[in-house]
Amino acid sequence: MLRPRVMSKFLSNQPYKGTRDFFPPQMRQFQAVMRQLATIVERFGFEPYDGPLLESFELYAAKTGQEIVENQLYWLEDRSKRKLAIRPEMTPTLARMVSQQVMELPKPIRWYSIPNLWRYERPQRGRLREHWQLNCDILGGDPQFADQEILRLSHALIQSFGGERHLEIRVNHREWIDEVFQNRMKLTAEQSIQVIKLVDAKAKLDEKKYIEALGAIGLQTKTIDALEAFLEGGLDSLQSESNAPGAAHLSKVIHALNDQGLSSNIIYDPTIMRGMDYYTGLVFEIYDRSPENRRAMFGGGRYDHLLGLFGKNRLSGIGFGMGDVTIQDFLQTHSLLPDSTRNLDVYFTLLEGTYFPKLMEWATFFRALGLSCITALEPGKLAHQLKVAAKHQARHVVILGSSEWDTQTVSIKALKTGTQSEVKWANLKRWAEEQAQSKQN
Ligand code: HAM
Repeated sequence: MLRPRVMSKFLSNQPYKGTRDFFPPQMRQFQAVMRQLATIVERFGFEPYDGPLLESFELYAAKTGQEIVENQLYWLEDRSKRKLAIRPEMTPTLARMVSQQVMELPKPIRWYSIPNLWRYERPQRGRLREHWQLNCDILGGDPQFADQEILRLSHALIQSFGGERHLEIRVNHREWIDEVFQNRMKLTAEQSIQVIKLVDAKAKLDEKKYIEALGAIGLQTKTIDALEAFLEGGLDSLQSESNAPGAAHLSKVIHALNDQGLSSNIIYDPTIMRGMDYYTGLVFEIYDRSPENRRAMFGGGRYDHLLGLFGKNRLSGIGFGMGDVTIQDFLQTHSLLPDSTRNLDVYFTLLEGTYFPKLMEWATFFRALGLSCITALEPGKLAHQLKVAAKHQARHVVILGSSEWDTQTVSIKALKTGTQSEVKWANLKRWAEEQAQSKQN
């Protein structure tokens, strides 16, 4: 007999499927990674920007691509019945914002952002429903140089963690794909887009389904063979096409980056298609060589017509998005996560409530020197407070008990070593200054 489900009187304390709660340790790790990425990006002269979480639905319907718009977009109607979408990606917002100031901004524009994005995905390793994505884009400049710069930046980001030997930058070019699909294989523009999407999703399909889908798009066996030959072509086949649209540009970019010492990382890969409709030039995806992380860590490409959606200016751009989930998986796999231990310099114990004003006074000047400190907010036993300080991973504990009070001293315990010293109140400022100094070094 089926038992009636007992309704709990409590709400679930678990987050919505495919989203994460960031407890302080996870938040520290996330921030340490993002801070390091932002530091490198700023060394390349990029400036931060951000936009709203909600955008008009049409912004994505125009160019983001069918898969995201039809299957993954979170959307809603506001009270005035406007159809809005929660951003699944940042590039349309970037294009919309740049178009407002395109005449005034110094070119090329180099902007970066770390938005949180929403896609209704089946949660799995490297794919969630909410993720954060480092977006870096260059708008303007000669594609010959801007494309190199964005790939150089991609490499530098991973190199800053010491992970470059695990990195594979796989590149292709949409014009080259169009040349092969439309001019040589004689696919229509519509068929070409369908094949691009199918090849992009090929890893998720078994071979039989993939061939059936190609047939359903209208490809005959001969064309399927030509497609497979293209997808298996190596760098030699690209280099022999010095007059084909896209191919020559791609060869030049690969050579230039090889000359800069990236030859072990950069790979011509004709299977890189990229799912979004707006890409028109160089496209790329960056992979971890370790089989543990099969999904692209980041990806992007050049788009010529996005700004054209908002006005006459057709400034072309190139950029990428790097997911916080995939980069953290990568760093974890290779033990390259940056240090993210708790950074608490001083814990002031409170043994008698009457000592609190004195502790507040010290904490105030410690903080002014740049030290982080906590004062206990409830009088209690020393042993308990030492345990709390250890849980907070405090570097030092300042103890003010009745004997210290009488002698106008404090005991300072270094939690890592267990060593304890006595410091006179009059010398406490100097002690704090020394701590602040050693923190800076
Ligand atoms: P995308 O390939 O859709 O491109 O996403 C870029 C990266 O974001 C992926 O390689 C992956 O690391 C991460 N990512 C995407 N979806 C998820 C998800 N559901 N969960 C976790 N991580 C995810 C774009 O979004 C383009 N707008 C990038 C771009 C910028 N192109 C030019 N500029």
